[in-house]
Amino acid sequence: MRWFRDAGHLGRVALLLLLGVGLFVVARHFAVPRGFGQYGHYRGPVLKEIRAHPVSYAGREVCEGCHSDVAEKLAGGRHKTVGCESCHGAQAAHANSDDPGAHKPPLPNALALCARCHQQNHSKPKNFPQVDAMEHSGGEKCTSCHNPHQPKPGA
Ligand code: HEC
Ligand code: HEC
Ligand code: HEC
Ligand code: HEC
Repeated sequence: MRWFRDAGHLGRVALLLLLGVGLFVVARHFAVPRGFGQYGHYRGPVLKEIRAHPVSYAGREVCEGCHSDVAEKLAGGRHKTVGCESCHGAQAAHANSDDPGAHKPPLPNALALCARCHQQNHSKPKNFPQVDAMEHSGGEKCTSCHNPHQPKPGA
């Protein structure tokens, strides 16, 4: 019976292990949020929470419904692929308001806006139009020579 001579030690280790597992199960029960794992490795109810966020972007079609003159101009130049709200920011509050004229969006600061896309940078594709903004404009506003909706000079 020498095999079981020290069985007491094994018993204590087993008890400790059981206690550890029990503690883990209890802690997990309180620590894991409700709905976790419902659809995958995240909280299921979070989908509803995200859906409840207010929408900030109206989308180009909505803008064009009221600003057809701008839309027409934009479509005729190389900014045709740039969305209204890429330049004007999220404007659902303006577009969906009962009185859009009373919630006019501020006009963008052209220098900062244009430079964001057109400031010369070696990491940009070579054929993308880019300038050294300060040297090119001489500090003048970009919009005194370029119409943002039809950027070719003189257009
Ligand atoms: C329901 C009609 C409507 C929709 C939709 C709409 N607008 Fe407007 N917008 C107006 C009106 C009205 C004015 C005020 C015009 C004025 O006072 O000359 C205005 C003014 C503006 C101005 C300011 C003009 C200025 O001179 O200060 C900007 C910029 C603008 N809208 C951008 C947008 C963008 C971008 C969208 C799409 C996200 C949009 N609008 C959607 C009706 C609309
Ligand atoms: C490339 C950036 C850019 C895009 C794209 C753009 N805008 Fe503008 N928009 C501007 C800037 C900059 C001004 C301010 C011009 C100024 O200060 O004279 C402006 C001015 C305006 C104004 C004021 C009146 C006017 O005609 O100047 C309206 C309204 C307007 N934008 C609506 C729109 C709508 C609607 C779209 C999409 C169909 C759009 N914009 C797309 C940059 C942009
Ligand atoms: C969100 C990015 C973005 C912003 C902001 C932006 N542009 Fe552009 N711009 C473009 C794209 C995209 C093109 C077209 C490139 C192409 O066709 O390969 C373009 C083309 C141009 C061209 C060439 C036009 C031609 O016909 O040769 C000029 C000039 C220009 N933009 C000036 C401006 C000015 C001035 C502003 C500020 C009012 C501005 N851009 C703001 C993205 C932008
Ligand atoms: C004094 C007038 C003037 C001002 C101010 C001005 N531009 Fe220009 N820009 C021009 C002219 C003219 C051209 C056409 C040059 C050409 O075809 O060689 C041009 C061309 C461009 C091009 C096209 C370059 C290419 O390789 O096709 C971009 C982009 C541009 N400008 C951006 C801007 C930005 C951004 C600002 C403001 C920081 C600005 N411009 C201010 C007159 C101006």
